Amino acid sequence: MTPPSPSQRGDTAAIQWQRCHPAAVRGALEALGDVGRAPSGGFRRFAWTREDHDLREWFDGEAGARGLDLVTDRAGNRWAWWGDPDADGPGVVTGSHLDSVPDGGAYDGPLGVVSAFHALDALRADGFVPARPLGIACFGDEEGARFGVACAGSRLLTGALSAGRAAALVDGDGTAMGEAVARAGHAPLRPDPEALRRVGVFVELHVEQGRGLVDLGRPVAVGTAIHPHGRWRIDLAGRADHAGTTALADRDDPVLALARVVLAARAAAERHDALATCGKVRVEPNGVNAIPARVTAWLDARGADAERVRAVVAEVAALAPVVEESWTDRTPFDPGLAARLAALLDGAPLLATGAGHDAGVLAAAGVPTGMLYVRNPTGVSHSPDEHAPDADCAAGVDALVTVLRELAG
Ligand code: GLV
Ligand code: MN
Ligand code: MN
Repeated sequence: MTPPSPSQRGDTAAIQWQRCHPAAVRGALEALGDVGRAPSGGFRRFAWTREDHDLREWFDGEAGARGLDLVTDRAGNRWAWWGDPDADGPGVVTGSHLDSVPDGGAYDGPLGVVSAFHALDALRADGFVPARPLGIACFGDEEGARFGVACAGSRLLTGALSAGRAAALVDGDGTAMGEAVARAGHAPLRPDPEALRRVGVFVELHVEQGRGLVDLGRPVAVGTAIHPHGRWRIDLAGRADHAGTTALADRDDPVLALARVVLAARAAAERHDALATCGKVRVEPNGVNAIPARVTAWLDARGADAERVRAVVAEVAALAPVVEESWTDRTPFDPGLAARLAALLDGAPLLATGAGHDAGVLAAAGVPTGMLYVRNPTGVSHSPDEHAPDADCAAGVDALVTVLRELAG
């Protein structure tokens, strides 16, 4: 990811030296494209797998090529430092994550990491010398796609997720996170207050995951808050039997209970102006000619305030037992920092989001935190169709350069 030369970019004015080439970010994302590519065209990049290892190697290679100091914290997150935060005080950190949801898009996470390296290149090419250490973070297991708890790396870092609970989380094959981490050659994960103290301020750049920027006519927005959200597990027991010989009246079919739960969640979400999704279902034993013995489903519920989310979950809980697997209250980003970033970026619009981020976990832990969102013309995300135009990605890098120059200058 050597920055394009001025002649490649056609720039002449020195002030434009740091501008990102429109195709540069896509080129870097494409370089990651073989890792975990699924037949759908999306990506399966889950925590503590071979793919995760390969992505970490990529991160290490990019950091190493730039002479950055690499550190893995006790919670399994990777950090690349320009400068020494232990000697020179807490640094300015940017970055994001490289893991994905099942069949996720190319931008959710990687855009923030790739943009961070590009921004650092641009700052250096411009002769910038940071007055504070500058760090690039690659958080582990942001999506929680394998073990169920989103932002597991940053939650472990801050202590919001305990070492014991993390180690005991199991994936769909019954492998515990503790075991997967050990197999990957990492020491047992635990909170790392020392690593957290190195972060003086954190700004995460991320693809926008809705259409919030489309009508505003701007490529980049500044985050204000993350809406409350959580995940609940619903266990529905039935009685396994033969599909061709069991009379309807004699059946105890847990899929019927699931259907009621899904419809109730949808109706409750409509009533309370919230969001409810049952995107993951496990049917056992999953035979076409067998009445299932049990169903496990997961409810993801979100909304503008906690009350409406809780109201949706309460309505579902009236039908079936629900177990809360994670909960994140409304998380505001530092309002002073958000205003400062918006002013720096020519009055960039302010946006709240329903998507969770490591930035929210750091903000909740008291780190001054902000976010930059890059326009997503369709709003589609967590899908192979997720997309951000080259020019907007480049505008995101330019915005990050401006922000880092100000915060670390
Ligand atoms: C993370 O992308 C989430 O909000 O689920
Ligand atoms: Mn995501
Ligand atoms: Mn993300």
